[in-house]
Amino acid sequence: MSTDNVTLREVVDQDLPLFFDHQLDPEANRMAAFTAENPADIDAFEAHWDRIRSDDSIINKTIMYGDEVAGHIASFERFGVTEVTYWLGREFWGKGIATNALLLFLDEVTIRPIYARAAKDNKASLRVLEKCGFEIVGEDKAYAHARSADTEEFILELRD
Ligand SMILES: CC(C)(COP(=O)(O)OP(=O)(O)OC[C@H]1O[C@@H](n2cnc3c(N)ncnc32)[C@H](O)[C@@H]1OP(=O)(O)O)[C@@H](O)C(=O)NCCC(=O)NCCS
Repeated sequence: MSTDNVTLREVVDQDLPLFFDHQLDPEANRMAAFTAENPADIDAFEAHWDRIRSDDSIINKTIMYGDEVAGHIASFERFGVTEVTYWLGREFWGKGIATNALLLFLDEVTIRPIYARAAKDNKASLRVLEKCGFEIVGEDKAYAHARSADTEEFILELRD
């Protein structure tokens, strides 16, 4: 299937168990680094999704690959700017899906500049951002639950 088959739609309740499965993946957690404190805590997961789905400043979309739920993508406000974030189930990695999903999302969410953060060693995410026109404009260090350690990250910006 080609990446033309990537679409975005509103998140529905039936997506959440799939997102929870994606959140349980240890390799995805290690990559993303700045994750839920305990990814297996279903109550915390449900509280998180209740909160982000009822916050008008947060835009959440489900990433579809054909008729399969591949993951999710979102924008949210932090430190006075808008950031994007995304997460795919492992079986969907390496097919260009995140890149296409982010390009579609950036067509819908037109605020600029828009930002993203990625752990410095999250090469796949950094490459996705680079392919979508983001450039590294800074760096930071924060505690990463998935690594139980302070972890360095890049801050990336898309200007236009
Ligand atoms: C990061 C993630 C979204 C990437 O999704 P994806 O659909 O595989 O991404 P794409 O296929 O669109 O692009 C990945 C790019 O990274 C490259 N890449 C992947 N692993 C790499 C590595 N270890 N080193 C260098 N490049 C790498 C791929 O080759 C591809 O680039 P290319 O098109 O130039 O060949 C996915 O792995 C994921 O959900 N990870 C867990 C959650 C996460 O890290 N989210 C981001 C938080 S900042």
